Amino acid sequence: MAQYRIVSGSVAVISIQNPPVNALSAAVREGLLLSVRAAASDPLVRSVVISGHNGPFCGGADIKEFGNVSHLESGPHLVEIFESVEALAKPVVAAIEGFALGGGLELALACHYRFGHSEARVGLPEVSLGLLPGAGGSQRLPRLLGVRAALDMIVTGRHVAAGEALKLGLLDRLTDGNTVDAAVRFAQSVEGKPLDDRRLGNRPCPPLENIDAFFEEALIHARGQARGAAAPLACVQAVRGAATLPFLKGMELEKRLMETLMTSGQAQASRYCFFTERGAARWTTPTGARWDTCRARPISTAAVIGLGTMGRGITVALARAGLSVVAVETQEHQLDQAQRAVSRMLKGRGGVSYSADLQAAAGADLVVEAVFEDMAVKEEIFKQLSSVCKPGALLASNTSSLDIDRLASCTLRPEQVLGMHFFAPAHVMRLLEVVSGPRTSPQTVAAAMQLGRRMGKVSVAVGNCPGFVGNRMLKPYLEQAYFLLEEGASPELVDAALEEFGFPMGVFKMSDLSGLDIGWRVRKEEGLTGPGVSADQPMRSRRGRRYSPLGDLMCEEGRYGQKTGRGWYLYDRPGGRVARSDPWLRSFLEEYRARHGLLARRIDQQEVLERCLYALINEGFRVLEDGVAASPQNIDAIYVFGYGWPKHRGGPMFYAAQVGLARVLEGLEKYHKAHPDSPHLQPCSLLRRLVASGSPPIHKWSEVVKGHRSQL
Ligand code: NAI
Repeated sequence: MAQYRIVSGSVAVISIQNPPVNALSAAVREGLLLSVRAAASDPLVRSVVISGHNGPFCGGADIKEFGNVSHLESGPHLVEIFESVEALAKPVVAAIEGFALGGGLELALACHYRFGHSEARVGLPEVSLGLLPGAGGSQRLPRLLGVRAALDMIVTGRHVAAGEALKLGLLDRLTDGNTVDAAVRFAQSVEGKPLDDRRLGNRPCPPLENIDAFFEEALIHARGQARGAAAPLACVQAVRGAATLPFLKGMELEKRLMETLMTSGQAQASRYCFFTERGAARWTTPTGARWDTCRARPISTAAVIGLGTMGRGITVALARAGLSVVAVETQEHQLDQAQRAVSRMLKGRGGVSYSADLQAAAGADLVVEAVFEDMAVKEEIFKQLSSVCKPGALLASNTSSLDIDRLASCTLRPEQVLGMHFFAPAHVMRLLEVVSGPRTSPQTVAAAMQLGRRMGKVSVAVGNCPGFVGNRMLKPYLEQAYFLLEEGASPELVDAALEEFGFPMGVFKMSDLSGLDIGWRVRKEEGLTGPGVSADQPMRSRRGRRYSPLGDLMCEEGRYGQKTGRGWYLYDRPGGRVARSDPWLRSFLEEYRARHGLLARRIDQQEVLERCLYALINEGFRVLEDGVAASPQNIDAIYVFGYGWPKHRGGPMFYAAQVGLARVLEGLEKYHKAHPDSPHLQPCSLLRRLVASGSPPIHKWSEVVKGHRSQL
């Protein structure tokens, strides 16, 4: 809806009314157009102010309408409304409070003047939904700011604070007071003044030298920003149109590009991610029971045990969320280093105290343990915490794979023990897996989920199994990558395929970054490593299934990845980050294949993607079947926010649905036939049942999962 009133005798104030963000729904569009027409035809009205009701100016299009073309088609189009705003013969002033985002900013750009509150934010975030500003934004903003600044805003989708917007010329004036009142006074002061130059559609783009070279570079840059994503490229093309075409031709180009994006799978995937992120915190078990109605005990003090890589990041994340934190580390040298690192990250902000004694955790509402990944060490700590900590305190472990229930058994309060699995670096990465064991109480999970929200995390409740959800699914993915090397691929080929798909880093670059030695240590503990038949001939099979000792051999050579300056790639120094191909690796792989009688064959990118991704997806279906994750959406949130799965591909389970479950099943069957000793390629029964029931859409999968026992 849009409210219409006349103030000060001559100013029509049109106020967009659609809480909470004043989105441009069909009813709002209708009301807006009627109000603009009323203002045009009323002889008493000499100027117009457009504002948002009760705070925010406008959050843009109604995202719920995106998926539904009939909704979008009903009511007047934004382009048409904005044209009539711009064409109005009376000055129109946008009064921007809160935020003007997406269609909201496009509306403001169609106005003749833009007045902002000093705390307002503006931006065109369409690109993050796989789209471009498709209601004139891509054409008007470059005409106002020049190509460079406009392109930056449109391709990154970033929010711009009022101060910067004023400097850029995006806002004409700022006020600290009542924005609408100030805009009304301003509108009166410009009544009767010529408007031609204020209409952005009438203006040419400010000239730019070397325009071809500029846009070539912009395209390369946009490609690098999100590999395989179409929207950033379309944004560049649209802005190029603004720089080179007359306004109306540019608008036609914008429309064509928008139509292509709208109907693409990528926009659907990005929109799905938007809802997945918000939905993750609403945890529902596969049986439909909701737990988020639990009353969680508030947490205001926390203790972190072990100040290595993870403990430091966790301390920072907790302190930034406003908790007072006691950080405990037994190694004096580590404690000193951690103290310096944490205060640097917190930029001198307080709230953290340090101790070498576990007793310091006595008063905390929550303890997060982040010591070495060693069951015996962790068991000892949980035993101590059980007696040291006050009754009611929650005891969490940041373990990335160990059994939460075993840790719970070491305490006298198993219902208050849980996993809080952060991702490195913990103060940056958005994902938090909240792991509940069979005895963890719903109140405990609720408290951790709430705390996750306070830390700005995407928190996902998962069940207790080796690797939980994320790392459990990563294992088959890694394994297939190793197998592909044995069969003839190179790390470069595998990584290129995955990076082209959209991962920021291929699997081998990724393992160089996190360190090959970590997995090696885990495999050693599991008794998987070591020589097979003879010392120089490790078996390529363990416990009846195919096993690749490649990672172990690399570690035996001291190739741990970036930290040692060499791994699957070569780095200029230990700790270096720029990966180069290593001729050594090539001959290492050739020798390895020769020793094991393996014939290298040509492997193409499609096989890389299918083997690695289908194996991961298959494990995702097992996770659903086992009730370790409540929904495919939760799995997808974990992969997008913790593992770099490209947003424009929705997440592994969404991707499977988009590819077609029958095709995924067929692929797995084909590869399993070729590699019967690789059980991860054996299609799981849930996938089979979904295909048998006609591959229902992703939000209906739970009906097929039903009947299985939930572990949540
Ligand atoms: P780290 O080796 O960097 O740090 C462990 C720290 O714990 C060391 O400073 C050590 O001195 C300290 N410590 C050991 N015993 C202690 C005790 N009894 N009391 C107090 N402090 C003690 O290890 P990192 O990488 O930080 O990992 C910690 C935990 O987080 C592990 O369980 C790991 O599996 C998990 N994790 C690690 C991730 C990573 O990327 N590094 C990601 C997610 C989880």
